[in-house]
Amino acid sequence: MAQQAFLLQSSPISSQPHSRWGFLLILSLLFNALCLVIIGKHGQLLNRGSKTENLQSLGWSRKAAEEAEAAAQYSCSGHGYVFVDTFRRNQDGTPVCECNECYLGPDCSEIDPNCVANADSGDPGFLEPFWMANSEAGATVVPAWYRMSYRIKDGSAAMFSPELEEQIRAIHALVGNAVTEERYIVLGTGSMQLINAAINSLSPTQSSNPAQVVAAVPYYGAYKGQTELFDSSDNLWTGDARAFQERTKSLNSTTFIEFVTSPNNPDAQPNEAVLKGKNVKAVYDHAYYWPHFTAISHPVDEDIMLFTISKLTGHAGSRLGWAIIKDYDLYQKMYLYIQYNTLGVSHDTQLRATTLLKAIISGYKQSKGMKAFKTDSKQLLFHYAYPVMRRRWESLERIFSASDRFSLQNLQPLYCNFFGKVTDPSPAYAWVKCEREEEDCAAVLEKAGIIGRAAKEFGADKRYVRLSLLRRDDAFAVFERRLQALVSHNKTAQESM
Ligand SMILES: Cc1ncc(COP(=O)(O)O)c(C=O)c1O
Repeated sequence: MAQQAFLLQSSPISSQPHSRWGFLLILSLLFNALCLVIIGKHGQLLNRGSKTENLQSLGWSRKAAEEAEAAAQYSCSGHGYVFVDTFRRNQDGTPVCECNECYLGPDCSEIDPNCVANADSGDPGFLEPFWMANSEAGATVVPAWYRMSYRIKDGSAAMFSPELEEQIRAIHALVGNAVTEERYIVLGTGSMQLINAAINSLSPTQSSNPAQVVAAVPYYGAYKGQTELFDSSDNLWTGDARAFQERTKSLNSTTFIEFVTSPNNPDAQPNEAVLKGKNVKAVYDHAYYWPHFTAISHPVDEDIMLFTISKLTGHAGSRLGWAIIKDYDLYQKMYLYIQYNTLGVSHDTQLRATTLLKAIISGYKQSKGMKAFKTDSKQLLFHYAYPVMRRRWESLERIFSASDRFSLQNLQPLYCNFFGKVTDPSPAYAWVKCEREEEDCAAVLEKAGIIGRAAKEFGADKRYVRLSLLRRDDAFAVFERRLQALVSHNKTAQESM
């Protein structure tokens, strides 16, 4: 607690004479009472299990630990945050809260009635409550001199923490979603960086025939965006992979780089490459191949596979992705790309990711009978996250079932090896179709106060729009309300016709 932390700093208790001791104690009790009165007014305290008594035994990390715990204990009415880097106090001593979208006021307790629901971003805020409940297991302390070098170790060219590498292999082994034995791993600043690393490494150099980069519609927009942005003479974006299905053989001197997202962003389908042939290089993006989003049917084992911590642990802001690669030459090319591009991935991020992965793995190790949903899910990431995503999808299914103007993608229950049972769909996004001809679905939703991602970002027809199910509870609740109002309004309008 902040007030106790204050005491620790200011009272070397054991060496004081008794009378001074008593005076300090009374003073501190008064101070504590005052703090409680002030804090009670605005930024309610959270009981996040801070163990300040242990801080007494800390050395150089004490100040940082105190600051981190002091910030973390405010709930901001459950609709905001006090983060350690921006921790400031208002004049009345209450903390400055950073309110969630749609919430206002010094303690974030007021809802903005005109707020637009933002269902555009793939920000995985739905996992924040899990990490709050597991704040001790997931916390990282970074010493000021921690791995300051460009390299992970003196005398080695490595940019990749061996401990992180072990944890990445261990999380795949735990989940059973990818083969990593005898495979190479390259880290990227998010899997975003690895998209171009793969394109660059798979393209022929200085050829009169550049590689054609494709993906089946609807595709994740960054494949197109990055290819066009980097504008290399070695490759070019040529659009929908299906347009080349019949032609890859006749174009056998052209390299095709096909991005295959599985399960897909936006529609959660378990995609396979649509192009076949020696000249086709498929890059499998498995950002969402984790048990909270889809059933794990088998360990995937393609030539190049991309994963990201963003959708696994939810730490999108830490920017860490990895590629699992079969071929040594390709691994070396991608490694060189990262070296020239950013000289590796932040060591601070690697440390944090190592701790987070260890926390997930040890949560499962400590629990017995991990296949049973009955197990205490508070420390089991996938057992916590799957029901959250499932409830959100069920809610959308219920809302849209009352509508014949909008429809959702069709997803089926599938057997999940990780949970050891058939699981119902729990996708990251809804891929909504407006059933009326010629309707611009993103514009229809925008009019109703819901921002989705328009179909053109995915190369698709404007009758579709992507809605994110990944955001914080608050954002999802506002989105749910707006969606319900839109569907109910349509229904009443139709009934009165
Ligand atoms: C399919 C897919 N690939 C890659 C990314 C980028 O992930 P990262 O945060 O690791 O850069 C995303 C992010 O939304 C995604 O949906």
